[in-house]
Amino acid sequence: MALQTSIDLRVVPANRFSETAADLVAETLRQQADAVVGLPTGNTPMPLYHELVRRCQRGTIDFSKMRVAVLDDFYGIPANSPISFYGWLCRALLDPLGISSERVLRIPTEGPGIERKCAEYERALKEMGGCELQVLGLGGNGHVGFNEPGSARDSRTRVVKLSAASRAASSAYWNGADVPDQGVTTGIGTILEARRILLLVSGARKAEILRRSLTGPISSDVPASFLREAANAVVIADEPAASLLER
Ligand code: PGA
Repeated sequence: MALQTSIDLRVVPANRFSETAADLVAETLRQQADAVVGLPTGNTPMPLYHELVRRCQRGTIDFSKMRVAVLDDFYGIPANSPISFYGWLCRALLDPLGISSERVLRIPTEGPGIERKCAEYERALKEMGGCELQVLGLGGNGHVGFNEPGSARDSRTRVVKLSAASRAASSAYWNGADVPDQGVTTGIGTILEARRILLLVSGARKAEILRRSLTGPISSDVPASFLREAANAVVIADEPAASLLER
């Protein structure tokens, strides 16, 4: 089925993927130096993060005021857990860019009072002015953040049960370590409020789910399909990921 969406789809050769994504982050920070950028972890954004660190070292992007909101993490892990997504983000990007914890809105990972903490995360994000740019990866099951299939369009930051597929994918990040069966994620409704959304998709194994996300029904069966209703969503896909799209 042909693409029936106003989404801004940019298909790039694999060797242009990280530069294209980094250009969009750079544009955001040029327009607003203290922009809040929502950031994911996972394999997909790593080339982008390497490129941002390179540009920081060269001095071509000013990250000195950038603020960050963490998209998701595991639930039930201590703040300094070796499998924390926040810790991963620190090592991969925040520390090399010199972004200290005062400029980071961390998603809560522990009870008690996790519902209240999730509501506080939402309130703090609003007080920061909301996300100027929300960067996302695409899960093999169509999730964005940990918004698993079944997530409602108006969902907010909350604890979710992780699907077996997402747990297996997450476990692989830590060489098969046991990972929690619950996560905490920014909601679909929260994500859709970002002024701009950047969905990153790379590799042939994401081709079918990208096709379903962009050309299938808009439904909670494929949470990423809701991004087609966002006012300002950009998809950067490399050629293997875009191989099943008719263009
Ligand atoms: P991946 O994960 O980038 O490691 O494929 C994407 C996601 O689950 O958001």
